[in-house]
Amino acid sequence: MVMTSSPTDPTDSGATGGYLLDNARAEAGERFVWLAELFDGVTRGHFERLGVGPGSRCWEVGAGGTSIPAALAAMVGPTGYVLATDLDTSWLQENDGYDVRRHDVAADPPPEPGTFDLVHARLVLVHVPDRARALATMAAALRPGGWLLIEDADTALQPLACLDDSGPEQRRANRIRNAIRELLAGRGAELRYGRTLPAALRAAGLADVAASGSFPVGGVACDRLEASTIRHVRRELIAAGLADDAELDAHLAAIGAGRLDLTLAPLISAWGRAGRMRAGGGQSVVVEGVEP
Ligand SMILES: C[S@@+](CC[C@H](N)C(=O)[O-])C[C@H]1O[C@@H](n2cnc3c(N)ncnc32)[C@H](O)[C@@H]1O
Repeated sequence: MVMTSSPTDPTDSGATGGYLLDNARAEAGERFVWLAELFDGVTRGHFERLGVGPGSRCWEVGAGGTSIPAALAAMVGPTGYVLATDLDTSWLQENDGYDVRRHDVAADPPPEPGTFDLVHARLVLVHVPDRARALATMAAALRPGGWLLIEDADTALQPLACLDDSGPEQRRANRIRNAIRELLAGRGAELRYGRTLPAALRAAGLADVAASGSFPVGGVACDRLEASTIRHVRRELIAAGLADDAELDAHLAAIGAGRLDLTLAPLISAWGRAGRMRAGGGQSVVVEGVEP
């Protein structure tokens, strides 16, 4: 069953102006392709390490495009189950072997609580104002022993677009990256969220919490992602007085010439698992971690 969302509502959080990189624009689809190219290898490595395999039940939160739900569907096979949810499901395709449902992880109850072996969200929570509630919703969807894997950028840890800012083109790229960070912060994004993930997972009641980080430096996928992002937010950058047309055109030309060696903020991947639940005086309490 596919439940599609209204293209008018994605992540609109009222006073903050809503999610900056909303799925309604064509550039969102391009961004999903390049995010997949840059990070799916990292994410799939975590899936394998956390024991996702034939028969696993997985919930992909804020899925965006098809690549991760399709990869999970291939890993779990016909005896498993994959649910892909998003505020705006228009880039998802159910016939790739996974179910699709519109779901706001910050407002809706967990689908099928207590049943998933893996719940995963990548580059989602940084944009969600009520992150603690979203984490609680995802944790409540896990079976005892199931893993929560959250991957989010920490753009304050490494804010540069060009690590080697030796020339004017590189310094312009860094100014424009900073302007985009300003726009994101103005929409309620938490730019230091990645580093807080281990503590946030422990606060959500998870056990055996650990994390790692990675970021690509240079290459075509970084260039293409940057160009798509610039086109996506161009209007907002100009309206906010953070950049002008000439500057953005020059930046796009430098990207096209492939001479910037663009990079990204580190992606922090953090994981923890639900403990075994035991009824105690009418309440369920976590008493221990269990094997996956
Ligand atoms: C930067 S994209 C990341 C997409 C994908 N997870 C990836 O890593 O390529 C953020 C996604 O989160 C979704 N999203 C934002 N807020 C959400 C919410 N409250 N509930 C569910 N999805 C949300 C957006 O619609 C978008 O598809």
